[in-house]
Amino acid sequence: MKKILVTGGTGYIGSHTCVELIKQGYLPIIVDNLSNSKENVVDKIEKITGTRPIFYKVDILDEKGLTKVFEQHDIQAVIHFAGLKAVGESVKVPLKYYNNNITGTVNLLEIMKRFNVKNIIFSSSATVYGDPKEVPIKETAPTGGCTNPYGKTKYFIEEILKDLYVSDPTFNIALLRYFNPVGAHESGLIGENPNGIPNNLMPYITQVAIGIRPYLNVFGNDYDTPDGTGVRDYIHVVDLAVGHICALKKLESVTSGVHIYNLGTGIGYSVLDMVKAFSSVLGRPLPYKIVDRRAGDIAKCWADPTKAEKELGFKARFDLRKMCEDSWNFQQKLDE
Ligand code: NAD
Ligand code: UD1
Repeated sequence: MKKILVTGGTGYIGSHTCVELIKQGYLPIIVDNLSNSKENVVDKIEKITGTRPIFYKVDILDEKGLTKVFEQHDIQAVIHFAGLKAVGESVKVPLKYYNNNITGTVNLLEIMKRFNVKNIIFSSSATVYGDPKEVPIKETAPTGGCTNPYGKTKYFIEEILKDLYVSDPTFNIALLRYFNPVGAHESGLIGENPNGIPNNLMPYITQVAIGIRPYLNVFGNDYDTPDGTGVRDYIHVVDLAVGHICALKKLESVTSGVHIYNLGTGIGYSVLDMVKAFSSVLGRPLPYKIVDRRAGDIAKCWADPTKAEKELGFKARFDLRKMCEDSWNFQQKLDE
């Protein structure tokens, strides 16, 4: 079995990717410091797939701990999810974000180099495009206009990886720019359960639906969009996970390079579209109030997904209804 090191593998996207890796015959070696996830996710991945990934509670900043993992396993490729991702928090504690995300990545890359592991897939984000000049966004659009430290870490890491490739062209690198991941595995065993008040739309909606919060705050209805609310490209997390398998196969089929792909559906939905779709799944209207815009938000952001389709054979399968159904199923199971 080919061993794939999955940093941040007990997290939201990482856990779903481990499921897809196992389905494709790979063995995930998870490294996670559990700062934003729980160790029982490993049991859940085993329950879903019948195979237990190997798990190490190790911080990517811990050079000795990470080196040991590389000593113990013949790693074919690294899928690098580990990172902090709360935009608001990153503004308050930027050094924590730069240290964890950037220093952690540099540490990982040093060790990969030492062990001659040259294949890496990095979790980037549509946030690297900043406020895009045009939608749908192509991979060739300018990057770097990020307004918060979290977004900047994604941009800087992309640049670090490009520089690394220039210095050592045997590296084989995929930068995957995710749009807005939502949904959960259909078993309801794994999904996203943020600590505290959710920042992102879908977890906030499911908490309103279950009664934890009274209503959804819709951040602004005066954007230049069809109904005035923000438009995003929501992608089911299982589709996103499959996108990583496609990227891994791509890296297996080429010898080196920096390969950049958007992972989205190519469809933009507004906040009110989402409220409508979710209400239909719920069977009752989801309460919401229009409030002021959220600082730093952009009006519209959706992917041109054609490069990933052409070069990776990747196309998202799940629609908005399925995204809502699986998010709701996960929220209800959490409460059981
Ligand atoms: P998540 O927080 O659920 O998963 C990240 C995992 O990394 C967590 O399990 C956490 O414990 C672990 N981690 C953090 N710092 C670590 C460290 N120093 N050492 C070891 N483990 C560490 O987040 P997610 O939504 O699954 O996101 C995965 C990756 O994708 C992140 O890099 C994130 O920035 C990126 N991304 C996420 C989104 C999104 O909307 N969820 C969008 C674009 C990009
Ligand atoms: C957020 C992050 C971004 C990250 C992306 C993907 C911010 C400012 N940006 O972007 O860096 O890459 O997630 O995970 O946090 N909305 C509401 N009410 C809510 C929550 C959201 O109306 O309670 C609206 C937002 O204004 C936006 C849409 O819903 O129009 C989606 O918001 P969200 O899920 O936070 O994602 P992004 O803003 O795209």
